[in-house]
Amino acid sequence: MKNRFSNPSLFPSPSRGGSGRGSQCILFILFFFISCSDSGDLITNRSAGGDPARGFEYLYYGDYIAAGTPLKALGLPEPADDDTATLNAFKKTIGPTQNVFRDANGVWVVSGSCFTCHAIVRDGKLEPGLGNPFADWSQKNTTNFEEKRAKIAEFLGESSIEYQSFFESWRYQKAFVPKIVAECAGLNPAFRIEEAAAAFRYPDLTYSEKSVLAIKDTLPVPVSDIPPLWNVKKKKRLYYNGQGTGDFRKLLMQAGMIGIRDTIEAKKIWQKFADVAAWIESLQAPKWPYVIDQELAEVGKDYFERECRKCHGSYGWDGEYPNKIIPLKRIETDPYYAEYWKTMSEFPKWFNQSWFGLSEPSAQLMPEEGYVAPPLDGVWASAPYFHNGSVPNLAAALNSSLRPKLWDRDLQHPEYDSIRVGWQYEKIAEPRGSSTYDTRRRGYSNQGHTFGDGLSEEERRAILEYLKTL
Ligand code: HEC
Ligand code: HEC
Repeated sequence: MKNRFSNPSLFPSPSRGGSGRGSQCILFILFFFISCSDSGDLITNRSAGGDPARGFEYLYYGDYIAAGTPLKALGLPEPADDDTATLNAFKKTIGPTQNVFRDANGVWVVSGSCFTCHAIVRDGKLEPGLGNPFADWSQKNTTNFEEKRAKIAEFLGESSIEYQSFFESWRYQKAFVPKIVAECAGLNPAFRIEEAAAAFRYPDLTYSEKSVLAIKDTLPVPVSDIPPLWNVKKKKRLYYNGQGTGDFRKLLMQAGMIGIRDTIEAKKIWQKFADVAAWIESLQAPKWPYVIDQELAEVGKDYFERECRKCHGSYGWDGEYPNKIIPLKRIETDPYYAEYWKTMSEFPKWFNQSWFGLSEPSAQLMPEEGYVAPPLDGVWASAPYFHNGSVPNLAAALNSSLRPKLWDRDLQHPEYDSIRVGWQYEKIAEPRGSSTYDTRRRGYSNQGHTFGDGLSEEERRAILEYLKTL
């Protein structure tokens, strides 16, 4: 039996100056100090000298999810080569948000990628960086995992290497798939996927037969909208609740929790994430594609600087972003997501005591009882708004009386609303199932952030025009 939190191969001894128990204490004190004084860059090793083009290539073709379903099990032919031309041809079958790669066993597998969530596919083309708010995570997957395993075992043969690959991916899927069902379509359970996959991992990331962290099934699945990646370069702390601190590459590779087998594999992937970090830092917000009333936007800029700048910063060549986390008591948007990671989940503690937190350079999850006031570059493109995506457009973000209580949107054929700035929706009286955003549910409320309510109609109109220019 392995000891849950002390695997000798994972933690170098303190005498080597590594991150053993002794320096864990020092780390804690250091982070405590920084979080109190809120100074210094809490994300470390930013782009680390990486190459952006190579970073994108790795995300689009690479093996960072580490495990997946063998192509043989799906009855698909295997690529003859792993050059990009062959892989591009393959993407025509599986779509641009899935990667085909050789796993650690040398078996060709397919799995989702970062772009399953961090891109929009328009006319078959990938637009990376923007979160995908149209994916439906609300459907319960009714797969009988044991039955599926038995079928594949028979098909591939239990002693085959392909079956081994299938099995390694299957045992994590079996753990997380039943636990990630959102109550409303369009919201994303990313951190819950991690939490549920981590539940069956030792701190050295190897598989544990027994769950090592408890997940309370009586609580709603914590879900969120997806922030655009082009703002990450301005942030000192990642994620809506600011919990991401420390080594940037480790924070970025967390999706690998789904398939990485051990710290040896983790470290290989981590090395390639210097390039991924550089790619993310190179992203620019998209420009508003319609006409802007420049005069009105100029007026709006003044109002914005008066009302919004202290939290959201200023823009343009001399722009400054203050990197503020606003306490729940002040921001008053739905508290559930922040509270879940702060007080109801064991995942942040697991993370900090795993390879991610204890090997150098360390990454730490430090959940806050509040939300990051995000940069608003390209904010026109990232509807719906607030961490839980509870507000369909910017006009309603600026005026809480316009926020619909129950609303439906067409996730298959979304249409853009350039007047109210966001996605078109239909206000309804009775919920129609999970396609309805039901703000009465726990975690889904559209309350709070009422900073625009006290302004005049004229002032809000001007600020809205200004927001289009960012
Ligand atoms: C299953 C969907 C999903 C996948 C796959 C996924 N992400 Fe995310 N990502 C999210 C969601 C949802 C959030 C917001 C979570 C939060 O802030 O609490 C997020 C947040 C982030 C952030 C922080 C953004 C910010 O402004 O704070 C970064 C950076 C990021 N993801 C990068 C990646 C990379 C790189 C990959 C692939 C290795 C990846 N993500 C895979 C859904 C996903
Ligand atoms: C006291 C700080 C504070 C002030 C003042 C403030 N905001 Fe915010 N804003 C926040 C925080 C924090 C969030 C994130 C809330 C959440 O996700 O629940 C936010 C979110 C937003 C969002 C949604 C961003 C997204 O991508 O989801 C918009 C738009 C926005 N603010 C615009 C404004 C405008 C315009 C003003 C001025 C009228 C303003 N804010 C004033 C703190 C503030």
